[in-house]
Amino acid sequence: NVSHELRTPVSSIKLLSETLEEGALEDPGVSKKFLGQMIQEVDKLEGIVEGMTTLAKIESGEVRLKKKPVDIVRLVEQVTKRLQGMAAEKEQALTVVIPAEEVLVMADALQLEQVIFNITHNAIKFTPPGGTVTIRVTFDEQQVVVSTSDTGFGIDPADLARIFERFFKSDKSHSSQGSGLGLAISRHIIEAHSGRIWAEPAPGGKGSRISFSLPV
Ligand SMILES: Nc1ncnc2c1ncn2[C@@H]1O[C@H](COP(=O)(O)OP(=O)(O)O)[C@@H](O)[C@H]1O
Ligand SMILES: [Mg+2]
Repeated sequence: NVSHELRTPVSSIKLLSETLEEGALEDPGVSKKFLGQMIQEVDKLEGIVEGMTTLAKIESGEVRLKKKPVDIVRLVEQVTKRLQGMAAEKEQALTVVIPAEEVLVMADALQLEQVIFNITHNAIKFTPPGGTVTIRVTFDEQQVVVSTSDTGFGIDPADLARIFERFFKSDKSHSSQGSGLGLAISRHIIEAHSGRIWAEPAPGGKGSRISFSLPV
């Protein structure tokens, strides 16, 4: 529910600023901490507003996909490069398993990169330090499958389908800064490419695997 999602950070910011005004400002340690928290809440709001705008544009058909042949293997490599630093900061191994040849799909490259980024970013976010995140690309004559598996917290079996709903965040991840919109947006994008996106427990028994398939 949108208003609830917006109200929570807004009331935090209100409370924090009121407390500062009522005297907490005089204490440098406290005011610094409160300001840090306010910035976090503003970031959260920004993420929700951005995500809502993107979803609204997609749903109204305002976003027209610019479909061209794109090499999905290269997109995966680009995303991996962009997220390598974040994984390193968490002391995680971010690895790719990709075919040697290119795999062409008819797609909007920017939108598709967004999806790959979303699921890989989540995998890093929901995996504790020292874990492993692996992106795999496999294909046959009909379809290509991109999957991101991790050794993280995992997803409750009852939530496996629900994580693609807007604003859904599992209890385990409530502390996370995200807007809960990334996977809802990803699902829209994949379905607009006649593909499918799904979640399952990681094959290794620990963590999760999010995959999407596209026709080739
Ligand atoms: N790799 C993962 N491991 C565990 N939980 C996940 C993973 N990916 C997604 N989730 C769950 O799905 C929810 C929705 O994901 P998303 O739409 O990207 O929102 P956000 O990242 O903003 O929390 C997350 O809050 C989390 O509970
Ligand atoms: Mg996310």
